[in-house]
Amino acid sequence: MNEITRHDNLTRHWQDLDARYHFHSFLNPTEMARGNVHVIVEAEGVYLRDSEGKKILDGMAGLWCVQVGYGREDLARTAYEATKALPYYNTLFVTTTPPAAELAAKLATLTPSGCDYIFFANSGSEANDSAVKFIRYFWNLEGAKQKKTIISRQRAYHGVTMAASSLSGLQPMHPQFDLPLDGFVHVTAPYGFENGVGLKDGPDAEAFAHQAAASLEEKILELGADNVAAFIGEPVMGAGGVIIPPPGYWGEIQRICKKYDVLLHVDEVICGFGRTGNWFGCDTFDIQPDLISMAKGLSSGYQPISAVALGKRMSETFLKADEELVHGFTYSGHPVAAAVALKNLEIIESEGLATRAGGDIGDYFAKHLEQLNDHPLVGETRSVGLMGAIELVEDKSTRKRFDEKKEAGKTCRNNCFAGGLIMRAVGDTMVLSPPLTITQAELDELFALARAALDKTASQFR
Ligand SMILES: Cc1ncc(COP(=O)(O)O)c(C=O)c1O
Repeated sequence: MNEITRHDNLTRHWQDLDARYHFHSFLNPTEMARGNVHVIVEAEGVYLRDSEGKKILDGMAGLWCVQVGYGREDLARTAYEATKALPYYNTLFVTTTPPAAELAAKLATLTPSGCDYIFFANSGSEANDSAVKFIRYFWNLEGAKQKKTIISRQRAYHGVTMAASSLSGLQPMHPQFDLPLDGFVHVTAPYGFENGVGLKDGPDAEAFAHQAAASLEEKILELGADNVAAFIGEPVMGAGGVIIPPPGYWGEIQRICKKYDVLLHVDEVICGFGRTGNWFGCDTFDIQPDLISMAKGLSSGYQPISAVALGKRMSETFLKADEELVHGFTYSGHPVAAAVALKNLEIIESEGLATRAGGDIGDYFAKHLEQLNDHPLVGETRSVGLMGAIELVEDKSTRKRFDEKKEAGKTCRNNCFAGGLIMRAVGDTMVLSPPLTITQAELDELFALARAALDKTASQFR
């Protein structure tokens, strides 16, 4: 057995244990072995505190998930009471629990019209994996067994299980694992900035929207509509760099899906629960999906829980099949997670957090972001609700990017952290997604820290 030695300095102690025993996600093990990870020990409101007592403003709401902010007494109490009442029972076979049944019913009232048949899982990846199985099952029941291929987009992030990674279109996610699996293909992302929208000689936004959506139609025609099962997309691509589709894009995508009888699967894992200024991204972009997946903001990250909501067409087919669904997780609809999620939805509702993100605080966030456009490193800013992006460029007029090896985004991210702000880098795109409870004064502080980090980055790249 390994001896665990305790370092007198607690930060050092945890860093040593972490370096020795913890295999991190999305981190080079060599860097991990250096043992200089940040140790986050507590949080309150929009602030984290590390093991050295440093206060850090969390501009990312954890990983796009802590909608209601940290340190909520009512959520902690709900978890305690639910654990005492029933720490675990499953929802497989013919049992349910009150929190699972209540949460399913509540979600059915919030999700886009018709998406009111709810399956529970534990993470966004599991929800998307389940959705892929449901899509296959649907077409098998419909007698269209050859309809198998799922079309996703370059730069998409849908999770890390085998199917969710295959759905993802961020290229580095595939080679280590021989992915994507067969039957998963990717088309153009509606990334206006990268495609010259707004430049003097670039396409206008509407033309580009049609061009990006047309890549779906071209792919369907290339594969044959009889072979295409579904299209999946986030209303706004989050981890891909807060890519907000130009007006007209989602209308075109829906027209194309209908024309070729391709199911529309909307991934609301980031956009759901108020992030874009409405309960769901589908509401913000007027999307009528066949199924949606959700996680993160469902419990504000206080418990691991996710869900798939099936639309009328799919659920009617499943009910008509009159056979057992051979799928489900030990923790599907976990009673403690479901109870916390329910309470979290109650908070989002009673505090009007979605409305706030789509109203005054979202406007204030957008105004602050826009002001950063005067910075020499900034090529564009954009936002919807309380999610936003800042594009770092070497040359503002041409949008020429920095040499990739210079890692401008990573440098800026590190400068943010050193200054007491978490802002994430996706390549050279800085992204923000603060808790939906953030106040104007906290946004003033966030953007002052962001500007200071940009200034420092600029001085390093001069
Ligand atoms: C849009 C989207 N879908 C799915 C996932 C995967 O969720 P999880 O990490 O809970 O598996 C994520 C995670 O960031 C996401 O952003």
